[in-house]
Amino acid sequence: MVIIRAIVLSQKKRAINHKVSPVITVRAIQFNLPASVDRHWVEGSPFKTHLFNSLHLTLPAVEYWMVRQVKSSLKHITADPLRQNVRGFILQEAQHAEQHAQFGKMLRQQGYELKACLRMEDWILTRLQRLDWRLNLAAIAGMEHLTVLLSEVVLASDLLVAAEPTLKAMLEWHAMEEIEHKAVAYEVLQTVSQNYLLRVAGLAIGCAFVLGLLNRCTLTLLHQDRCLWHWTVWREMGQFWLTKEKMLLRSISHCLWYLQPKFHPAAHD
Ligand SMILES: [Fe+2]
Ligand SMILES: [Fe+2]
Repeated sequence: MVIIRAIVLSQKKRAINHKVSPVITVRAIQFNLPASVDRHWVEGSPFKTHLFNSLHLTLPAVEYWMVRQVKSSLKHITADPLRQNVRGFILQEAQHAEQHAQFGKMLRQQGYELKACLRMEDWILTRLQRLDWRLNLAAIAGMEHLTVLLSEVVLASDLLVAAEPTLKAMLEWHAMEEIEHKAVAYEVLQTVSQNYLLRVAGLAIGCAFVLGLLNRCTLTLLHQDRCLWHWTVWREMGQFWLTKEKMLLRSISHCLWYLQPKFHPAAHD
């Protein structure tokens, strides 16, 4: 609760004047996952469980990739507080990756074959890395923008109300820190390039990567769990994307906001 209150206060300060860039706080934290969890640890729901399983599973590789890319951009960032915040961003993302990495073992113990999802993620990230470093930064800024929306869903919806407490706490801690450092990748991009088309291309890559991978892994895990064709799974999927959490519509409007010429992530509380 103390961590959550501190983050909320720093966000309020930033929302009052988004030119104020509060220093990112790095918190030493260690989640001890239980030896085993229910196969459907989110309310007994296969869809909700595999949606969050996919997040837990795919986060480490993409976050380590972000850490490498942003670290190599540090030489272009000379002014504080951005330089300080980039360091905070790197340490926070590295810690997120480390904490979520424990989760893959748990899924393997439950009998899931994870190679297909992880190989696909690795394939995309390796190819992205071969492209221009500025485009990589733009893609990270785009991914971070979408991550803020996912974080809002984790924190403000009732999806995780009845979830396994440690896994829920890990996601909530991560979501709060994502909101805390939401402007860093964008400010780095703006420092190295203010090219609008680059920003748009980064968003397109970010959306394709986050939404494509998340859906692909969710469907793969549902298939392995032999739940893919259950009526309740498709009903809950429809609620998530279309009628209850309305993620499809919210993703579109979140992206349209990013496309505004004067966009800044901290302009929205
Ligand atoms: Fe993260
Ligand atoms: Fe992040």
